[in-house]
Amino acid sequence: MSMHDDFTWGVATSAYQIEGGRFEGGKAPSIWDTFSDAGHLPESGDVACDHYHRYLEDIALMADLGIDAHRMSIAWTRVVDATGNANLAGLAFYDRIIDALLAAGIVPWVTLYHWDLPQSVEDDGGWPNRSVVEAFDTYTDIVSKHFGDRVKNWITINEPWVMSMLGYKNGVFAPGRTSFPDALAAAHHQLLAHGRAVDTIRANIPDARVGIALDCRPCRPASLNPDDEAASRYFDGYRNRWFFDPVAGLGYPEDMLSAFVARGHLISTNPDWLRPGDLDMIAARLDFLGLNYYTSVAISHGHDEDEATDVAPGPNPPPGYTEMGWQITPDALHQYLVHLHRAYQPNSIVITENGASFGDGPDLGGRVADGRRQDYLEQHIEAVRGAIADGVPVDGYFLWSFMDNLEWTSGYAQRFGIVHVDHDTLARTPKDSFYWYQQAIGEARTS
Ligand code: FCB
Repeated sequence: MSMHDDFTWGVATSAYQIEGGRFEGGKAPSIWDTFSDAGHLPESGDVACDHYHRYLEDIALMADLGIDAHRMSIAWTRVVDATGNANLAGLAFYDRIIDALLAAGIVPWVTLYHWDLPQSVEDDGGWPNRSVVEAFDTYTDIVSKHFGDRVKNWITINEPWVMSMLGYKNGVFAPGRTSFPDALAAAHHQLLAHGRAVDTIRANIPDARVGIALDCRPCRPASLNPDDEAASRYFDGYRNRWFFDPVAGLGYPEDMLSAFVARGHLISTNPDWLRPGDLDMIAARLDFLGLNYYTSVAISHGHDEDEATDVAPGPNPPPGYTEMGWQITPDALHQYLVHLHRAYQPNSIVITENGASFGDGPDLGGRVADGRRQDYLEQHIEAVRGAIADGVPVDGYFLWSFMDNLEWTSGYAQRFGIVHVDHDTLARTPKDSFYWYQQAIGEARTS
């Protein structure tokens, strides 16, 4: 079974991770600029891959790769100023990128929010404060009106679990806050902002296709011990169902509302941030469900909120793991796609991110032999094919990532790209996996 003719092959990136240009075009500070200034990142994103200045070179490489689409994100802080007005220089920057992509025959898929909240919005309380929904809607309205003639594919929010839990509960990501109740409010307001954005985009662009990019960690109990089974069920609720259920119109999972109350994370199973009409807004019918998939985990009792990995991140991981310390589990992707199809019946599923971190660099001849990444990609694309053969409507695959970039708090040490970036010279070198993907796309189109 192969992909159908209009299956979308793409690559994905995000603004903060590649753009740099921190002080260009009137950009306002985001929570990641602040987090970086406070010393929480090994390297800052002030320059990153300097895509801000090198986008034409990057788009030429994408054209050479032969992709149908590029999933990029817009930095909210470039296009809206602290008073909520459009910043024309920022809009003009994305005009140049979008026009160059279209001229190269590449369809832009635009993510509105890939974690770079304006610092001014964080100063007003950030995602835990309901007023963020209005601010996000103002931003959505500006960009969907401005780019709607050329951009038809929209992703509202990227990975709301990561943003809310790592940003507001664990404090390891920007903005570095540590309150579980706030994190749950943050999650709710992201989902609400998503639902509102779906309406606003559709009102401004009648032929838009809109989705959300949800991250997942499929899990299994580490043993047959009932305590591990209960831990795995909780983890699945906290990490996956809390987001997939309401987006699919099922509301928040009852067992998790009770569990969060029992653990003191919520005061009641009817939280004060949940207002009449919210769940309907969140349940907006989507044109596609975006899935970001990297790994799956075995959960044991005592580790139901921290997803302990059994291999430390770093170079030279054992076979079967990537340098993030993530286990390579393509079968779990296949099974999870079947599960999503059965549990939620989305119209269409698009893999909005999938890829692997391996640090291979150029050899003396300039070749980057990243066979381990190629193996990972081959296995996961095969898993997608398997799910399609089982009847799951998967309509696209975006490889994370086009190029090595700023991997958040891991800095430049974790390399996910199929294009190598030398972070001293900023030189780009396509890796072996780039040429393999180029060929795989070509073969998929003719098969
Ligand atoms: C995802 C993020 C993306 C990148 C990859 C490795 O969680 O959406 O920005 O960091 O992981």
